[in-house]
Amino acid sequence: MNISEHISLKPFNTFGVEVFAEQFAVFTNENELKELTEYGHNRKMFFLGGGSNVLFTKDLEGLVLKNEIRGIEITEETSEHIFIKAGAGEEWHHLVMLCVQQGWQGIENLALIPGSVGAAPIQNIGAYGIELSDCFDGLQAYLIPEKKIITMNNEDCRFGYRNSIFKTSLKGKAVILNVTLRLNKTPRYHIRYHALKMALENKGVTDLSPAIIAETVMEIRRSKLPDPKIIGNAGSFFKNPVVEIKHFECIAKDYPSAPSYPDKDGWVKIPAGWLIEQCGWKGYRKGDAGCYDKQALVLVNYGNATGKEILELAIEIQNNVFSVFGIKLEPEINIL
Ligand code: FAD
Ligand code: EPU
Repeated sequence: MNISEHISLKPFNTFGVEVFAEQFAVFTNENELKELTEYGHNRKMFFLGGGSNVLFTKDLEGLVLKNEIRGIEITEETSEHIFIKAGAGEEWHHLVMLCVQQGWQGIENLALIPGSVGAAPIQNIGAYGIELSDCFDGLQAYLIPEKKIITMNNEDCRFGYRNSIFKTSLKGKAVILNVTLRLNKTPRYHIRYHALKMALENKGVTDLSPAIIAETVMEIRRSKLPDPKIIGNAGSFFKNPVVEIKHFECIAKDYPSAPSYPDKDGWVKIPAGWLIEQCGWKGYRKGDAGCYDKQALVLVNYGNATGKEILELAIEIQNNVFSVFGIKLEPEINIL
């Protein structure tokens, strides 16, 4: 067990904010994880993947445990599907590209999402018309209180929009060890997401493949999302709110071009980026904290912003959107 004291987490979060972990350790297998969680049982523990969906607003008490469980293998193959199991510490984008290169179809729309495989089920990552749950077969997780490993299927994980059981009843209690995906040998492409459809049309693509979809998704993402290596950020700061149709109709009276997407019966989803932009925040900067000028849903750290400053900006935006539209934006990222 190798535990370091007073470690800067700046290299371990894509916002690039400087906070310190009281104690920090890396685990590469289940046994190391068991040992560390037993050592830390009466302390606070926080499990870190790639740090691309967290905002640290203060130093972290207790033990920060970084998941570096590796390994990618095919576990089953049928005439229709390939089942591929990846260690939680593998990089998500690396896994996507590996599948794309083999021609295995199903996760190409999720290319270039930063972070680890093990964090993907936490908020059921999604982009360009699909979510992890669409190609998820199962996972193994270590339950800290029970000290045992369990297997969970799609239903057990209670996936929703940017949600799962790991954000509710199992929050802080389960550590994901590996994830198994079910990919298709016969493709079923998802290209209805407006920006993706348009980009494929503009490129004149007629012969679809996982590779061309992944490449196009990456081009769109690079054109509107900041690269965390250059400008600190954690992707969308808030979730897109789901509101009753009658609420949306009130908004549409004043804003006839307001965008919305159908959701559950009687409800629609409104892009939070649009709400934030209408309130005038797009491109706003205070010190080194800002609202990105190409995508208003992304808050950024231009250099030395603190987590508190970024959070203060998020709260100002949240209050403003609420006073203008009567909609309370809910953070998507994990704020500590
Ligand atoms: P971390 O930030 O390290 O952790 C996130 C949460 O998961 C924390 O609460 C942590 O405790 C928990 N956790 C991490 N690993 C485990 C584990 N093995 N077991 C249990 N708990 C764990 N997300 C999308 O859904 N769609 C997008 O299109 C998207 N685009 C993004 C673009 C950019 C530029 C950035 C910076 C982020 C984007 N994100 C997107 C958010 C982020 O990439 C995902 O949420 C990703 O899954 C986070 O992975 P991570 O390993 O960095 O998680
Ligand atoms: N829009 C604006 N102004 C903006 C940004 C967006 O008006 O500054 C409006 C436009 O109408 C645009 C619409 O919002 O057509 C949708 O924008 P975009 O396609 O960029 O998607 P999004 O809803 O802002 C969501 C996810 C992203 C994901 C993309 C692509 C959430 C919270 N965010 O963003 O996920 O990559 O769709 O599918 O659902 C993340 O979770 O971190 C993330 C980046």
